[in-house]
Amino acid sequence: MTTTSSDTATKLRERIKHAITSQQQPTVTVLSSLLAVQDTLHYIPDEAIEEVADFSKTSINEVWSVASFYTNFRFTPPGKVTLDVCWGPSCHLLGAQSVLKAVQDELGVHEEATTEDGSVTLRYSTCLGACANAPVIAVDHHMKGRVTPESAAKLAGSLRNISDSSKSH
Ligand code: FES
Repeated sequence: MTTTSSDTATKLRERIKHAITSQQQPTVTVLSSLLAVQDTLHYIPDEAIEEVADFSKTSINEVWSVASFYTNFRFTPPGKVTLDVCWGPSCHLLGAQSVLKAVQDELGVHEEATTEDGSVTLRYSTCLGACANAPVIAVDHHMKGRVTPESAAKLAGSLRNISDSSKSH
């Protein structure tokens, strides 16, 4: 391990420990610790499983069994930008399926996934809470309503370009 990757690993563990130990709820459990890590890092790295087991004085297997039970936990880092596409009832009626297909084609993914270059994570939503503006998508929780397949695909493409240009700086 190089010094830089060692520093990165140390910082990751510090962030995990801080997330676990700074929980505000009265009952600290394996689940609440995992939620705290996911809130902080937006995913559960292997190191978090070890740290939660250590903090909770339980086994790594026990922590894994809790983490793998809940589908909301993700175990890989998200993309730099998250794009939510709503396919709830209102959006569905107003064309969400075509919007979703256009976005997936633009990003080169076939389901909820992170693009190969790690720039964009596509997620499905059952309602983004802006049904009057359906169909709705959201970039890092900033909503955009009344999208068309074309406008949604254009936006998705621009997100990849933003990430590409930020990499070259
Ligand atoms: S159903 Fe899409 S925002 Fe509510």
